[in-house]
Amino acid sequence: MHFKVSPSRIADAKVTVPGDKSVSHRALMLGSIADGRTDVSGFLAGEDCLQTLAAMRALGVSIAQTGPTEISIDGVGLQGLEASATALDLGNSGTAMRLMAGLLSGQAFDSVLTGDSSLTGRPMGRIIKPLSQMGAEIDSDNGKPPLHIHGRSGLRAIDYELPIASAQVKSAILLAGLYANGTTRVIEPAVTRDHTERMLRSMGVQVTSKGHRISIPGGQALTACRVQVPADLSSAAFVILAALLAVNADILIGNVGVNPTRSGVIDILQSMGADISFENSRQLGDEPVADIRVRSSELLGTSVDPAVVSLAIDEFPVLFVAAAAASGSTVFSGIGELRVKESDRIAAMVEGMRNLGITVEESPDGAIVHGGGFTGGTVESFGDHRVAMSLAVAGTAADGEVLVRNVDAVDTSFPGFCSCMSSIGADIEAVEEDSA
Ligand code: S3P
Repeated sequence: MHFKVSPSRIADAKVTVPGDKSVSHRALMLGSIADGRTDVSGFLAGEDCLQTLAAMRALGVSIAQTGPTEISIDGVGLQGLEASATALDLGNSGTAMRLMAGLLSGQAFDSVLTGDSSLTGRPMGRIIKPLSQMGAEIDSDNGKPPLHIHGRSGLRAIDYELPIASAQVKSAILLAGLYANGTTRVIEPAVTRDHTERMLRSMGVQVTSKGHRISIPGGQALTACRVQVPADLSSAAFVILAALLAVNADILIGNVGVNPTRSGVIDILQSMGADISFENSRQLGDEPVADIRVRSSELLGTSVDPAVVSLAIDEFPVLFVAAAAASGSTVFSGIGELRVKESDRIAAMVEGMRNLGITVEESPDGAIVHGGGFTGGTVESFGDHRVAMSLAVAGTAADGEVLVRNVDAVDTSFPGFCSCMSSIGADIEAVEEDSA
């Protein structure tokens, strides 16, 4: 499938976007090993989370889908998971693979984790190293999936300094830490999203965070609780940008997660002159949420501080589009991690921007984007959901038709993207191969 995007007139609107992917994954995993029933509302029924749901079922957990965004998990307790008869296919999801690897390292059975062609090309050495130090034995294909995890009861607690800022690696170690003898400590080089720590605390687990150091004593039971998943700020970012690039639009996006470990994109856009404000700020369970109001704005180029990269790690594709539409130049540096996401996102966005008439200089860990108007053209998503949606947003503000190729992966994180964007006036049509 491809997106055919025509120059659009974005109108005033009130919209919602689907539930947070990171929180939905964690609800499934933590609810599965809790004692009691975890009812989840606002669940993201996108492909990535549905793969995790199927994996937890294969490990013996009973999970009911009680509504389009509601699930109910009958937790089996810390020691209640059972070996899966088959390999667990985690599709496109790095989060699922890395967090599950942590969870399964502490089990008294073996597991095999695999995924699609993107996931099986992604680096897993970053979790294999600490989990092996804890006593798990993990076979891989030269540091890449499939992973064969020889689980071990009674892992060793470790103190581990993360070489890269990664919430996935931190979370994998914390989940394994639940199964370790003693207190596991993780030191991060920069703050990363803290959904795992928040949800563990809501489930009665003692987890301490002091600065960049997070500690978890092993052997603690989780108590089921209600999880209300906020709307995903990473999905809202596409709507935010479409509104910013439009003429005179005023858009309100309801109930969005604004956890400060995730909201770097807002700070970066505001530093570029974006008119974005939080209304009705409140707490939804263990996560802060707000309604986000965005008004069309003239953006100015900036130099993005590498220190805030981990707070906006998934929003750089859309920030490339913001930079391209801004006046002046924008410097991105310290974003080398983007090269090992669902695609090489630096290369994908550099190519996409160039095909739409933008001048970009690429470097190993960043890019300089020189602002200018988008022309029409054909661009490739490289099978990456966030690249596809970012390029579609660029298309709404282009002066000709933009064809974004191979966009099926959008359903991993944002089912209903086209209809949501249409509801704000974006002219986006999903077309099949032969009509493109
Ligand atoms: C995620 C963490 C991030 C992010 C990913 C989701 C998570 O990855 O890119 O989409 O849910 O923990 P890293 O922490 O590896 O950068």
